[in-house]
Amino acid sequence: MPLPPPGPDAHVLVTGASSGIGAAIARALAARGYPTQLVARREDALTELAAELRGTSGLTSEVHAADLGDDAGRDGIRRLLLDDERLVGLVNAAGYGVTGRVADLADDDGRAQLDGLVRLNVLALHDLTVAAVGALVHRARASRRTGAILNVSSITAFQPLPGVASYAASKAFVQSFSEAVHAELSGTGVSLTTVSPGLTRTGFADAAGTDAFDKAPDLAVGDADDVAGSAVTAMAAGHRSVVPGLVNQLSAAGGRLAPRTLLLPALNAAMDWFT
Ligand SMILES: NC(=O)c1ccc[n+]([C@@H]2O[C@H](COP(=O)([O-])OP(=O)(O)OC[C@H]3O[C@@H](n4cnc5c(N)ncnc54)[C@H](OP(=O)(O)O)[C@@H]3O)[C@@H](O)[C@H]2O)c1
Repeated sequence: MPLPPPGPDAHVLVTGASSGIGAAIARALAARGYPTQLVARREDALTELAAELRGTSGLTSEVHAADLGDDAGRDGIRRLLLDDERLVGLVNAAGYGVTGRVADLADDDGRAQLDGLVRLNVLALHDLTVAAVGALVHRARASRRTGAILNVSSITAFQPLPGVASYAASKAFVQSFSEAVHAELSGTGVSLTTVSPGLTRTGFADAAGTDAFDKAPDLAVGDADDVAGSAVTAMAAGHRSVVPGLVNQLSAAGGRLAPRTLLLPALNAAMDWFT
């Protein structure tokens, strides 16, 4: 089991913990007995969740307000991963989407949104994962204590997606990078698991500026607690990847297997509905 047994000194750091899937993962980890360290920009939301987790689990929960899209904010959390010997796990859940065709996002405002997306979804996740891999492998060698990382990807990782091109590409990066590192870590006592949710009710749709979640059939929109349950179970077991829910598993398989020449025009037409 790469996630070591819970205990007062087996902390897991969770980014994007102020809402949605990250908050649900922090709750699931605390319910399993892991003290948490919560990261996001909204300190008030983190402080509220930390108090809730202390109340429900009796465990410590620490708050680190940081903007991971900013070099200084990201570096502060990277240093924490390197220096805090209590950390046995990292969850990279912070991320956001931008909807719209690239030609419509080429002005200063659109460019800033896309730049921020790449900085958070790609650069921050990559930097924090590299730091955690280095620190956890070092600790596993020195003390034989195992460690685990969980990266939040998306079913958009499995095919290019017109209308959310930069977001889908950022998640393709997360999926490819994380699966490769999972293989590299074989035999080290450290694991890297990727969870790839489909549409999930969180603050994501508001942040991405889409009402597609309201238009989608109930069956196609999942619950953050269900995603968190599957994700933490897979992380604790050290699995390579998990796609929660049958509808999402079918979508991921279709995205991987369908010929691009047929898929892309169909998706391009369908994404008018999404954007
Ligand atoms: N909801 C979906 O349908 C869906 C589907 C597939 C994958 N995902 C992925 O799931 C992850 C979590 O998203 P969610 O659905 O839970 O959305 P959410 O409710 O909007 O949560 C996003 C989290 O990211 C944090 N965040 C955003 N910008 C940040 C920054 N610059 N620095 C630090 N933290 C930042 C937010 O906190 P602050 O605003 O407080 O900073 C928040 O905690 C994302 O990686 C997303 O791509 C979501």
